[in-house]
Amino acid sequence: MRTQVGIIGAGPAGLLLSRLLQLQGIDTVVLENRSRDYVEARIRAGILEQHTVSTLIDAGVGDRLQREGLPHDGIFLQYPGTRHHLDFPELCGRKVWVYGQTEVTKDLISAQLAGGPPLLFEVSDVTPEDVDTDHPRIRFTDADGVSQVLECDVIAGTDGFHGVSRPVVTAGTSGLLWERTYPYAWLGILADVAPSEDELVYAWHPDGFALLSMRSPSVSRLYLQVDPDEKIEDWSDDRIWDGLSTRFALDGWELETGPVTEKSILPMRSFVSAPMRRGRLFLAGDAAHIVPPTGAKGLNLAVADVTLLATALVRLLAEKQTDLVDSYRGRPLARVWRCTHFSWWMTSMLHRSGDDFDAELQLSQLRRVCSSEAAARELAENYTGLPLDV
Ligand code: FAD
Ligand code: DHB
Repeated sequence: MRTQVGIIGAGPAGLLLSRLLQLQGIDTVVLENRSRDYVEARIRAGILEQHTVSTLIDAGVGDRLQREGLPHDGIFLQYPGTRHHLDFPELCGRKVWVYGQTEVTKDLISAQLAGGPPLLFEVSDVTPEDVDTDHPRIRFTDADGVSQVLECDVIAGTDGFHGVSRPVVTAGTSGLLWERTYPYAWLGILADVAPSEDELVYAWHPDGFALLSMRSPSVSRLYLQVDPDEKIEDWSDDRIWDGLSTRFALDGWELETGPVTEKSILPMRSFVSAPMRRGRLFLAGDAAHIVPPTGAKGLNLAVADVTLLATALVRLLAEKQTDLVDSYRGRPLARVWRCTHFSWWMTSMLHRSGDDFDAELQLSQLRRVCSSEAAARELAENYTGLPLDV
């Protein structure tokens, strides 16, 4: 098999890269080690920045997003006694959209399977080779158990945090890694109940953080800060709803409850790996960096990387110019660090560490964001998404 760009991983980063390259006449093959059902059902992010939405629409995969996505003009920040609305269009002229990562993935997969480039599910033993030459290749075993070799001009490692690409980059470069684990996790649920508030609520509470989000007018997505060593089996639906009701409590307002259809505990970490390139192997998305979920940056950052990478690869493969691939080693990192800081800052402001001094600092910061237009604008600009080159 031969292609111009061999793409490892069919998450949002790999699928969107394939789509953007296809639109520019560049051939790709996408290799995914999971099944289509598994990839489409994996519940993750839910908030899209304006840049992400425009990129998907411009790439011709935004029809359902435009019909079913929910535009949001802001968020609520809550601490005991106060629920304050931040109006994003007023603060920075942008907004965000609620549209699940599952739906983005389904839209990209169906576009790709409807006459797009090859997308192979359930492959195994995926190994990038000879990435320091102009003729790299990917060895893998296909879904029928047959060994295959995909000859490429370039390989894109969009295989997420646990993928095989990043170790190949770090092994062959004097790479740098930065990592922070947090002493909390999120317990997330999906519930068949209309969202109790029309926009997201980020709530600070002495018991811990809680987030009210949604997937549609009839499906709520809610999160509760828990210890990272908590077991999901110890959290009955009643216990979860009780915890959420306590943390969102506000006079004159009630949290509506309903059947829980999914629940899981998510660890939180920050992680950045540099450079994002070794020879002809390029990393994008979670393969290169992870942010904690507070602030909803992970998926949007993956889309931003891929937008830069697609332009750089078209310039290399169609115009034979190496300037943009050369700068890709480090160019996305300024934005990665901005989002890493914002996600760390939101996480630090909203999660209870158990320390009362920390709590007073957090409340002071929250009161500042809710009373100063300058402080609110700083949050709004970061939340709705900064330009590609920050
Ligand atoms: P991924 O979505 O991880 O895609 C990588 C793909 O590569 C996967 O399909 C994987 O199966 C495949 N793959 C892995 N290894 C191989 C291999 N060896 N060979 C072939 N294929 C391989 N972000 C938010 O903004 N808000 C959230 O609420 C949120 N919740 C999250 C919850 C969880 C449990 C996780 C893990 C992440 C969450 N994120 C969230 C982050 C967001 O989902 C990611 O940033 C986003 O998925 C990144 O997309 P990606 O394509 O880079 O990576
Ligand atoms: C969602 C996740 C986030 O991390 C966030 O900050 C907002 C919303 C969500 O899954 O809906």
